[in-house]
Amino acid sequence: MTESDPETVAITDRTLRALHNRIKTSPSASSADIAGGSDFSRTSLTREPLQYTYLEGKQLLNNPSLNKGSAFSYPERRQFKLECLLPTAVNTLEEQVDRAYGQYSMLPSDLLKNAFCQSMKEQNQVLYYALITKHLEEMMKIIYTPTQGDAIMHYSKLFRRPNGCYLNINRPDLIEAGLSHWGRSEDIDYIVVSDGEGILGIGDQGVGGIAITTAKLALMTACGGIHPDRVIPVVLDCGTNNKELLNDPLYMGNRHERVSGEEYDNFVDRFVKAVRVKFREAVIHFEDFGTSNAYRILDKYMDEIPCFNDDIQGTGAVTMATIKAALHVTKMSPKDCKILMFGAGSAGVGIASQIVDNLINVEHMTEEEARDRIFLMDRYGLITSALPADKVTDHQRPFTHDNAPFENIDITDLKSVVGVIKPDVLIGASTQAGAFTKEVVDEMSKYVERPIILPLSNPTKLHEAKPDDLIEWTDGKVLVATGSPFGVVHGRKIAENNNMFIFPGIGLGAVLSRTRKITKKQIACAIEELASLSPVLINPENPLLPSIKDIEYISARIATAVVLKSKEEGLAHVEEHASYASDDLIRIPDSYEECFEWVRSQMWKPEYRRLVRARLS
Ligand code: NAI
Repeated sequence: MTESDPETVAITDRTLRALHNRIKTSPSASSADIAGGSDFSRTSLTREPLQYTYLEGKQLLNNPSLNKGSAFSYPERRQFKLECLLPTAVNTLEEQVDRAYGQYSMLPSDLLKNAFCQSMKEQNQVLYYALITKHLEEMMKIIYTPTQGDAIMHYSKLFRRPNGCYLNINRPDLIEAGLSHWGRSEDIDYIVVSDGEGILGIGDQGVGGIAITTAKLALMTACGGIHPDRVIPVVLDCGTNNKELLNDPLYMGNRHERVSGEEYDNFVDRFVKAVRVKFREAVIHFEDFGTSNAYRILDKYMDEIPCFNDDIQGTGAVTMATIKAALHVTKMSPKDCKILMFGAGSAGVGIASQIVDNLINVEHMTEEEARDRIFLMDRYGLITSALPADKVTDHQRPFTHDNAPFENIDITDLKSVVGVIKPDVLIGASTQAGAFTKEVVDEMSKYVERPIILPLSNPTKLHEAKPDDLIEWTDGKVLVATGSPFGVVHGRKIAENNNMFIFPGIGLGAVLSRTRKITKKQIACAIEELASLSPVLINPENPLLPSIKDIEYISARIATAVVLKSKEEGLAHVEEHASYASDDLIRIPDSYEECFEWVRSQMWKPEYRRLVRARLS
């Protein structure tokens, strides 16, 4: 078959069944699909060279999964009735990306750039992902934090078209039907769900939470190769306690205070159960729930289904990997190091819990030994037995230390606390700008040769300390990673402690192995893998974490570690599937190298596939 002789495939019921069967038994999103109508409701792009569709003309141009815009070839234009619907020139994808980048660069504000990207995703998915993967470092701040935060705050004002699954707490009976719009049981790999209560440091955004789920899924595809048509963004609209939204006549969510208690729990539970019935293979990623709900929900489901909470597990995992990389420089065992967490809210406690899990699972410490190494300090001071019960949250309580060593100091004073604990690692998740003063850092430097300091609060203006100050105060001895990008400071590239280094890889590994659950051991392997990729292992002057430019490779490496651990734990459900190419069972390769290739071969990439016309027969 040549370019000038396009093929048409008659789709009989049998072919249709065969194609569907290939999708059903494929280990990943990489099987052929057909697109365009009631029977052909799925519109997946594929890693295979062909895509089948019976759409033509404007309908084809309006389908973001199939549209190639000016890259449709002349034979395709002829075959799919696109002649006169496009200007004469035929562009390559690279040319389209350059043009789109030019248009993007001309826009005067970040919010307009964000809207431009969103609109492109709705028009031409391949072009959108080709554009953002080429310029990921630059565009991250537009498609994710902080600009996506602005877009979410103004969600109802900026609304143009729906872009996810909106589930209403007042109509739990509609959950199953709502999910049914997204395809058959084998069509979905990954679901990101939020109730919009704790968005990106901007708090309760109600129904606008849908836009954090779409942003996270875009990163799952761009960084983790998850197929963009095999995902669902879901918002659980439970009302909002945000007065501004409640008083905004344009607000598009439930206009009442948040529903809580049993009704909320039942709603979440019905959603989870509906997903298990409807899309039994899909991973559920919980995103930006309020802190207490986030922990409860994760605790409830993590041993039952493949699920993940990025705010708790992702933040903790990337931070642990950063610490491990830094400890490589200081030549210290994680077992021996003392960590002081300043700010023990959802991020702080999440990080502390992940560190404990890691010390137990990797360093084989007891829980008591692990907790002994970690100190939490929050707004009322260091969490010790001296603090009244009402000043300590349920999640902070397990980290309570005996107050005896601190009896003679002011436990609300960071410098004094540092003087007693003598921490090797100081982490900031307090949103208190400038809390790590020169005095605090000088005190820490008295006891450790190379202090490890991670001011993680975001945005930049909230950082507990600026990297240039930390470098100056410690004569360059500090090992530092920050919550926001700082680029190069005093000739040193500053590592960004960004969750995107880890969650796409964990998600991809969970999807490809079809793991029955995402275990602490799998996360521990992901941490080891990321730490092993730290540039600091080659040269102590290098940043603690790799470059975002290498994110696809990093995600594949992390996914490989997760897949192999899931297999070792006997949780890799994919090994129970038949391959679509034959009746043989799918086997995850045993060797790391082969498994890495197996993972990479299944990652979706933004490339145009050849379209084959299907006609019903
Ligand atoms: P949060 O509001 O739940 O926690 C902040 C905590 O700091 C609260 O417990 C608060 O009581 C405490 N705090 C306030 N004033 C204090 C003081 N003077 N001394 C000690 N503690 C004090 O917020 P969340 O979600 O935990 O986030 C905290 C920060 O971490 C945010 O700026 C967020 O952007 C950042 N973050 C960074 C991540 C990363 O680097 N990958 C990931 C997640 C969050």
